[in-house]
Amino acid sequence: MTDCTLVDRVPDLDDYLAFRAGAGWDAIDERAARVGLARSLYSVCAYADGQLIGFGRVVGDGGCHFLIVDVIVRPDMQRQGIGSKIMGAIMAYVAAHARKGTMISLMAARGVAPFYEQFGFRARSQARPGMCIVWEG
Ligand SMILES: CC(C)(COP(=O)(O)OP(=O)(O)OC[C@H]1O[C@@H](n2cnc3c(N)ncnc32)[C@H](O)[C@@H]1OP(=O)(O)O)[C@@H](O)C(=O)NCCC(=O)NCCS
Repeated sequence: MTDCTLVDRVPDLDDYLAFRAGAGWDAIDERAARVGLARSLYSVCAYADGQLIGFGRVVGDGGCHFLIVDVIVRPDMQRQGIGSKIMGAIMAYVAAHARKGTMISLMAARGVAPFYEQFGFRARSQARPGMCIVWEG
């Protein structure tokens, strides 16, 4: 377990874009990123030695649906418990704000399902798949 400090805040736009690229994710339109970050329901950043090392966000309508997105730990800091701390903060937010019937969902990246299973998430059946479009712009 590496020591880190969690701060409830949105990452800066440049950091957000850099961490996404570092995770190998497709580029996102900069304006979309700026608008999206500003509309987070909740966002938490992790720091070590004053440096950003990870973050995660919750977006949604604040009542019926929460969507957990952009949980990213800097590649050289992975598997040291940072992602779990970020998810711990996110789940504390969820516990404080979700009500009976609120759906809390996420789209797991390839191979990452076991990370989220620790927090109670389960894959939906093939008969009820999560579906999405990534807009081409
Ligand atoms: C997924 C991610 C956030 C996990 O963060 P992390 O700090 O490495 O996670 P932790 O160290 O807290 O991991 C705790 C446990 O979760 C599980 N886990 C973590 N990453 C995993 C992975 N890539 N695959 C399978 N299990 C994983 C392991 O059981 C791990 O315990 P262990 O290291 O003792 O085996 C990080 O790997 C990451 O940023 N990946 C790139 C971006 C990404 O795919 N984000 C998820 C988007 S849906």
